[in-house]
Amino acid sequence: MLYLGDVFPNFTANTTAGEIDFHEWLGDSWGILFSHPSDFTPVCTTELARVLTLLPEFNKRNTKVIGLSCDSLTSHEQWSKDIQCYAGCNEDEKFPYPIIEDKELKLALKLGMVDKDELDNKGMPLSARAVFIIDPLKKFRLQLLYPATTGRNFTEILRVLDSLQLTDTAKVATPVDWKMGDDCMVLPTVPEDQISKVFPQGVEVITLPSGKNYLRKTACPKK
Ligand code: BEZ
Repeated sequence: MLYLGDVFPNFTANTTAGEIDFHEWLGDSWGILFSHPSDFTPVCTTELARVLTLLPEFNKRNTKVIGLSCDSLTSHEQWSKDIQCYAGCNEDEKFPYPIIEDKELKLALKLGMVDKDELDNKGMPLSARAVFIIDPLKKFRLQLLYPATTGRNFTEILRVLDSLQLTDTAKVATPVDWKMGDDCMVLPTVPEDQISKVFPQGVEVITLPSGKNYLRKTACPKK
């Protein structure tokens, strides 16, 4: 069982960008590893294409992305042309992020990314749609696990990255449906007598029936 805050397990893998040692490949970047059931499938194609168009956003956030699909490298290389075409990119260009080969589901099983309800033609379970966010210290910071039949929302993944990166540096947490620039919540661990020092921009305390002053809003520390 992997807990948030654990060091994310290292592995070596064959990818469309050559063999990698995952931790070395991450370097001092944030990383997003996302898995797919198989190549040449419709939902997966839309997801990898979306990641392609969002690459400038991931770059802005010092984040490397890497896909995994339970097929061979030859298959990934052919499929990547379809992905580039679907994304409206030039399919003669090198595919700009690596896709891991996981024909035998070894990594999918190791990382718990399997959907037992979705079987391939041979009756083998498919890889689920997992997302892992790993920080520059190689710590595991988020996991999403979607069934094979539901495509993910990569705008949400960017939003979570923004929240993680902001809350690593400021004493705030981000509320429901928060987006970068929206008001944030003061962490419950910040004592009342430190508020003006930590939040010179000011804090609004919301009045609640309990009379407890725990719902404290402040302007986003990063605009
Ligand atoms: C797809 O990517 O479209 C897909 C893959 C496996 C099961 C269902 C959908």
